[in-house]
Amino acid sequence: MKFSESVERVEPSATLRISDLASELESEGADVVDLSVGEPDFTTPEHIRKEAKASLDRGETGYTPSAGIPDLREAIAHKLRQENNMRVERDEVVVTPGAKQALFETIFSLVRDGDEVALLDPAWVSYEAMVKMSGGELNRITLDPETGFTPGDVNLAEHVSDETRLMVVNTPSNPTGAVFSEDELREIRDLAVDHDFWVISDEIYEKITYGAEHHSLGAMDGMRDRTVTVNGFSKSYAMTGWRLGYFVAPDEVRQQASKVHSHSVSCATSFAQRGAVAAVDGPQEPVEEMVEAFESRRDVLVDALEDIGVSMPEPEGAFYAFVPADTADDAALCEEILQEEHVATTPGSAFGVPGYLRVSYAANEERIKEGVERFGSYL
Ligand SMILES: Cc1ncc(COP(=O)(O)O)c(C=O)c1O
Repeated sequence: MKFSESVERVEPSATLRISDLASELESEGADVVDLSVGEPDFTTPEHIRKEAKASLDRGETGYTPSAGIPDLREAIAHKLRQENNMRVERDEVVVTPGAKQALFETIFSLVRDGDEVALLDPAWVSYEAMVKMSGGELNRITLDPETGFTPGDVNLAEHVSDETRLMVVNTPSNPTGAVFSEDELREIRDLAVDHDFWVISDEIYEKITYGAEHHSLGAMDGMRDRTVTVNGFSKSYAMTGWRLGYFVAPDEVRQQASKVHSHSVSCATSFAQRGAVAAVDGPQEPVEEMVEAFESRRDVLVDALEDIGVSMPEPEGAFYAFVPADTADDAALCEEILQEEHVATTPGSAFGVPGYLRVSYAANEERIKEGVERFGSYL
C-alpha cells in the first residue's frame, strides 16, 4: 500500500520501543524504575484545576475563537512583556493544543520542499519528524559536549549559510538540560541576521532552571521579525494532559500557521484555557516548589552518577541529564539495561547523538538513586 510521502519519510518514535518494553515487563510483575518520562510527576496546582472546573460548571463547553480566548492571549502577551522583555500584543499570540502543535504549525508553514533546517544536536526527537514531514532537509550541528552541549566552542558560523532557512533553538534543552548563555544566543542572533534565516525558539522549560538565567531570543535586537517563540503549560505548571501551548510570530507567519491551526484543530480546549489564565496570572509559588524539588533531584542524580564514576557538566535546567555511556550502540544498551536491570532510559541516538543515555529525573529521589545503582555497572 502507498501512503503519503510526507508521512513515510518519518520513522516511528525511537522511544516507543523502550516504553512498550517497559510496559511489557511491568505487566509481567517487574519493578521497573522509569527514568525515561518527559513529564513532571506532580499534579497540576489546585488553583488552576479549580478555574477549569468552574469554567465547566459555567457551561463553557463550546468552541473558542481559533487563536484562543482573549483573556488567555492577553495574559500570555502580558507575561511575555513582563518576564521575557518581548514586545508582544494580544493579537500576536496563538493558543494551541500543546507546544507540539505550535511547533508543527509553524515549521509546516515556514519550511518548503528542500529547505535547509538547522538543528542543534542533541535535539528533541520531534523537530526532526516535523521538518521531514514538511519536506525540509536537516542540517544537524552537534553542540559542545565539554559545556554539557551548549554552543560552547563550536563555531556555528561554519555550519550555516545563506541557504539556511530556519534554525530551531531549545533552551533549556531537552535532552541535555543545558541552558544557553546570553552570549551564545547573541551569536545565534548575529548569524540569523547575517544569513537572513528564521529561528524557532522553543522555551517550554524556561521556568525550570537552577541558578542559570533564561534569555529569550525574540527579545534580542533584530530578532522580533524573524523569531517564532513557542512555549506551553505542560512542564512549568505540570499540565501535560491539558494539551496547552502557544506561539508568537510575526504577522505573515502567524497568518499561514493559523490556517493550519484552524483546519486541523480549530482551537484549544475551552475550559483548559480558563485554567491556563489562572496559571499565568495566579500565584507562582507552586512552580517554585516544583523547581526546588527538581533541583534537589538533579543533585541526587549527579551525586549518584559521580559515585559510579560518571562525571559530566551539571545540567542547569529542565529535568534531564544526558549521560555519557561507553558505547556507540546506545539503543542496544538501553534495551539491555531495561531487560536486565529494569531501568528505563532513552538512547541518545534518538536525539541525534549516539553514545549517551537520556535520564529523566522527574521521579522521586529514592527511585533515582536506585535506578543509577542498578545501571551503574553498565556505564
Ligand atoms: C523541547 C520540547 N518542546 C516541546 C514539547 C511539547 O510539549 P507539549 O506539547 O506537551 O506542550 C516537549 C515535550 O516533551 C519538549 O520536550
